[in-house]
Amino acid sequence: MKKIVVAIDGPAGAGKSTIAKLVAEKLGYAYIDTGAMYRSVAWKFLQTGKAFDEDFISGLSQTMVIEFRPEAKVNRVFVDGVEVTDAIRSTEVTAIVSKVAAIGAVREAMVDQQRRMGESGGVLMDGRDIGTVVFPNAQLKIFLTASVEERAMRRYKELVAKGEQVDLEQLQKDIASRDKQDSERAISPLRQAEDALLLDTSDMDINQVTEKIMQLVQERAQ
Ligand code: DC
Repeated sequence: MKKIVVAIDGPAGAGKSTIAKLVAEKLGYAYIDTGAMYRSVAWKFLQTGKAFDEDFISGLSQTMVIEFRPEAKVNRVFVDGVEVTDAIRSTEVTAIVSKVAAIGAVREAMVDQQRRMGESGGVLMDGRDIGTVVFPNAQLKIFLTASVEERAMRRYKELVAKGEQVDLEQLQKDIASRDKQDSERAISPLRQAEDALLLDTSDMDINQVTEKIMQLVQERAQ
């Protein structure tokens, strides 16, 4: 069977990374979490303590080395050799990452790396612009979504399970605001590619979504 490129796009909290990671493991594909790459740039910038400056952040994004080292349970992420797997999920990084991801030169640097990572196929890549910009010729494109309420509820359960105190209404507002920023930015906004298959997971569990995508990959890889 051929090893294809699978592009999975969709809004924050739709379950893209959970699903992509599971499918990649089952198929022996590489999994590239492109959101983690933008988060890594935001993290690197916050480390410097400087005020927000597009040129400075663009410069950082062009020289930093981002690596993924997948393990059984986690997809570990390293920036210039330093592990940032948890640090890139912090509220500070989450609060600023949409602004960092809206900088054109940062996107160019990340897209270059993403194309190199996926050029030989056998890869599941998730993000916002994978099917539209990074791999417009991907053999399979999926647009994974779910209602704002359902996405907020999933995040709420995740955080509560970690022992964090969270406000569901605030989570809904944050998710809606990130959707707006990601969909309305000038460069490579979040949008469903014309040839992407829409998968609304509001009423599906992880197993059902994983099964569905596995089936689609197997069909396209014939
Ligand atoms: O999927 P995530 O929440 O980890 O993404 C973090 C941010 O990066 C989010 O604001 C959207 C942005 N992003 C992007 O602009 N393009 C991608 N391919 C992936 C993520």
